[in-house]
Amino acid sequence: MNGTKKRKKEQLTIATEKDITYSTLSDGFDWFYFINNSLPELNLDETDTTTSFLEYKLEIPLIISAISGGEDTGDKLNMQLAEVSNDEKIALELGSIRPYLEDKAKLSILKEIRSICKNNPLIANLGAVQVKSYLKILPSVIEEIGIDCFSIHLNPLQEAIQPEGEPLYKGIKEAIKSLKREINTPIIVKEIGIGLSRNVVVELMNIGIEYINIAGAGGTSWVKIESERITDKLKREIAREFYDWGIPTATILNEIRDLTKDVKIIATGGIDRGIKFAKAIALGAHLAGGSRIFVKKWTEGGQNAIRELIHVWKEVLKIAMFCTGCKNIDEFRANKNIIREKYAFNSFT
Ligand SMILES: Cc1cc2nc3c(=O)[nH]c(=O)nc-3n(C[C@H](O)[C@H](O)[C@H](O)COP(=O)(O)O)c2cc1C
Repeated sequence: MNGTKKRKKEQLTIATEKDITYSTLSDGFDWFYFINNSLPELNLDETDTTTSFLEYKLEIPLIISAISGGEDTGDKLNMQLAEVSNDEKIALELGSIRPYLEDKAKLSILKEIRSICKNNPLIANLGAVQVKSYLKILPSVIEEIGIDCFSIHLNPLQEAIQPEGEPLYKGIKEAIKSLKREINTPIIVKEIGIGLSRNVVVELMNIGIEYINIAGAGGTSWVKIESERITDKLKREIAREFYDWGIPTATILNEIRDLTKDVKIIATGGIDRGIKFAKAIALGAHLAGGSRIFVKKWTEGGQNAIRELIHVWKEVLKIAMFCTGCKNIDEFRANKNIIREKYAFNSFT
């Protein structure tokens, strides 16, 4: 097993076996509440949760966000996620394709996953630093796999903490712009659970990025995952100082609500319950979802546990729409009349 595959395997094992969520910083969804509408003038079964994304019709605005891959366990997980996401008509984003770029014989696995995802959008992912290194070959690889969208993750803190990290961010924006010019496939730019600030969201919009996954703080902590892999005592101590670094997911959504008419925002980071999923959409996300909760469910009960979760989140979303008087997702999404910040100074004006 080469270095990248070994690292992916270790990260996945740590994510399933250790407590790797933020200790004190929350995802922020508890700071918001729905405004109950006791006169919705609507029947529950009339609510329509469908939405469109990348030319597909999704059953609910849900995305399973990037989760590793490239070694046996990750590949098996992604294959099974492909089957579920195709059946349930939700979006699937695969983890970093770096291991497949280093061992191109394995690209056949990604093509197999593509052949499973017939009804739903399939997205493949790579770190921004690696986009810079693989810029020349990426257009043909993207074409070969046949994905619907390519996602690039920004992870300066992880690169700075990771034992094998490459904290080389000079020229990253230019590399993203170059790739955008070279491919027709749409691009998502995302964080990995530490959060994109409003300023970065605006910078990305200014270079023409139409899909942005804010991947905020409060759920998976990559500083904790990497800390588990650090053997040097002082490096571990340095990493520990960053356990609470990040911007809560709901805070980002609230701060960029006015931008959601011009850019499609995806919300991940700490979303592990149906009500957080519903709040993320009401706060303006085009799609919401996550990674850790899907890995956890899969480890506990395989594909069935994930199907059950999707069923529960869909029903929660329907009831939230019914009890706020919204009959479809367009009425529900980014609707400032149905959700309020608990401690906002002017919340009752
Ligand atoms: C086991 C695991 C592997 C991940 N691998 C990737 C990856 O390869 N690329 C990426 O952009 N994000 C990756 N992520 C980050 C997620 O896509 C997501 O943005 C982040 O975990 C926040 O969501 P969560 O709190 O629901 O996990 C991974 C997350 C987990 C838990």
